[in-house]
Amino acid sequence: MSEKLLVTSALPYANGPIHLGHLAGAYLPADIFVRYHRLKGSDVIYICGTDEHGVPITIRAEKEGVTPREIVDRYYEDIAKSFEKFGMSFDNFSRTSKPIHHKTAQEFLLHLHKEGHLREKSIEQLYCETDRMFLADRYVEGICPHCGAKGARGDQCESCGKWIDQLTLIKPKCKICGNTPIIKETSHLYLKLGDFQEQLKEWINSKDNWKENVTNFCNNWFSEGLEDRAVTRDLDWGIPVPIEGFENKVMYVWFDAPIGYISSTKEWAIKQGNEDLWKDYWQNKDCRLIHFIGKDNIVFHAIVFPAVLMSDPRYVLPDNVPAMEFLNLEGHKLSTSRNYAVWLNDYLEKFNADSLRYVLAGNMPESRDTDFSWKDFQARHNNELADILGNFINRTVTFTKKYFDGKVPALGKTDAADKKFLEYLQSAPQRLGELIEKYQFKAYIRESMNLAREANKYFNDKEPWKTRKSDMDSCASTLHICLQTVYNLSILMEPVLPFSAKDIWEILNIGDKHNWSESASLNLETGHELGEPKILFAKIEDETIETEIVRLQRTLDAMKAETEAAEKAEEEEEAIIGIEQFQQIKLKVAEIKEAEAVKKSDKLLKLKVDLGNETRQIIAGIAKNYNPQDLIGKKVVVVANLKPAKLRGELSEGMLLAAQHEEQLTLLTVLDDIPAGSGIS
Ligand code: 2FM
Ligand code: ZN
Repeated sequence: MSEKLLVTSALPYANGPIHLGHLAGAYLPADIFVRYHRLKGSDVIYICGTDEHGVPITIRAEKEGVTPREIVDRYYEDIAKSFEKFGMSFDNFSRTSKPIHHKTAQEFLLHLHKEGHLREKSIEQLYCETDRMFLADRYVEGICPHCGAKGARGDQCESCGKWIDQLTLIKPKCKICGNTPIIKETSHLYLKLGDFQEQLKEWINSKDNWKENVTNFCNNWFSEGLEDRAVTRDLDWGIPVPIEGFENKVMYVWFDAPIGYISSTKEWAIKQGNEDLWKDYWQNKDCRLIHFIGKDNIVFHAIVFPAVLMSDPRYVLPDNVPAMEFLNLEGHKLSTSRNYAVWLNDYLEKFNADSLRYVLAGNMPESRDTDFSWKDFQARHNNELADILGNFINRTVTFTKKYFDGKVPALGKTDAADKKFLEYLQSAPQRLGELIEKYQFKAYIRESMNLAREANKYFNDKEPWKTRKSDMDSCASTLHICLQTVYNLSILMEPVLPFSAKDIWEILNIGDKHNWSESASLNLETGHELGEPKILFAKIEDETIETEIVRLQRTLDAMKAETEAAEKAEEEEEAIIGIEQFQQIKLKVAEIKEAEAVKKSDKLLKLKVDLGNETRQIIAGIAKNYNPQDLIGKKVVVVANLKPAKLRGELSEGMLLAAQHEEQLTLLTVLDDIPAGSGIS
């Protein structure tokens, strides 16, 4: 019986185009996994769609001065198109703004309510008086109370990944107008996550094949104790809450988004002509549900959504949640808001999809963050795809065209080297398949290119250009084996190189219906006529890559300048003091009674000043500007509450105020006569 699988990739927010970081995280690994399972004959469906609610959408709309609807319509189209060009093979790509999703999410919320898993809480939240709204999630930014990072959002800190109670944010600022919000009361529905803690804990700890980053993350949450989580928001854009008293609120986007996997599957079932077909996956304990995500989404896929699913025992729970770490770009963190990214649309205008699929998969952030660099991209495209894989296929096919009339020659006598290579070739599907099943995509890429590398070596070692003249039978065997290798490689690499696989099938003239198990056999019949050869991967020139590097470097420079300007502005802002701080400084009028030079100092004068009810000694650095005798009787301004200090061994119990211009110092005094000791405010 074939394996049943339901595979999902995180629903991207419909608030901007797709970039390389997205692809390496939740999309490409899932697509490779699904394509492999399809070739294997598994009963697999691959579900995704756009996430169209929440603050990420409304903030974008506000920035552009358009409606949220315009934003999601635009980016749904953009994302769906670029995914298609990249070869993403979803069985369904839906949208969470569709009625089918609204209905499904509302049913879930009502179910949780009915089962007593929701509780109403009146809470204090940040409210912007200028914009007259509660500042949900990303509408407020400040300093993270956990790690001190700036720019932490009202829901989560991107630096330390911790969840943030927005009231604990340091120096919170409204994201729309930049003003400091006030605290105001509102009420929300909360999911009592604690109800599910024991069940979740037992379930996650029964998994022995989950990535460590995921189980560790969950266990940390369990040890801190799962707290109630708000599932509603005070926003205008989102799914209306179908519960009395909450009609003017919407669902929290992270409550409805994962339910989008279910509604997208329902939509798929309707398209298949059997509206109940979705249950064969979601409500079938023999179906393996696998969520491909980026590491920032772990809590929602491994804790919150499973808890929602647990509330209805008919549903399956995730079999695995392979979470990827992050992809950096040329050694720096990607920043979509500052355009430090490689956008998929831009990429596809200049290069082919398969090269990016290959390079990203070979450098996938499986267990640690990895880096994408254009130089590495060029090197792997040129040295591996073009020089190893492309070259092997091209030389095999052109040789056959030239010396065997374009027909597969017979496998005649074979020697030890032939046998050894054939053995290696036929063991590949098992090895490569296991790696994909274990989510080891980097190793899968390495091993599959190794097969092409060995094939090239085999071609070289067998020297068919010589045996053609000396031993035609051996030459035929070599080419026969090489052609079979091209065939098998095309299947083994189809999950990562779907477009090239199609091209190879045309070159070999073998139709486009293939399966994984074929790649363990020799499939081409002797005498089979090949199609036309074609260059699969043209070399990428240095200048082409330089243009991309320069563009990113310019963006980095602009970002650096922007950061410096922002830091300067912040410093300036920090330098501004409030009236309370100013009032802490006690300024008084003092009359100078005595003045003399401090011994061995050409800068300091020792003064005795009358402060009304006391006399103090003050050491002042004014010897270059004033003669001691000229100062007697002058009324000056002193800081009277300065901590005493010793200067050149002399006690100084205050400070005179003076204006300074270059070397010139002029003591501050008062215009009209006023008694010594008078306060200054
Ligand atoms: O982080 C994100 O981009 C979210 N839009 C992912 C949602 S995944 C799922 F829950 F829908
Ligand atoms: Zn505001």
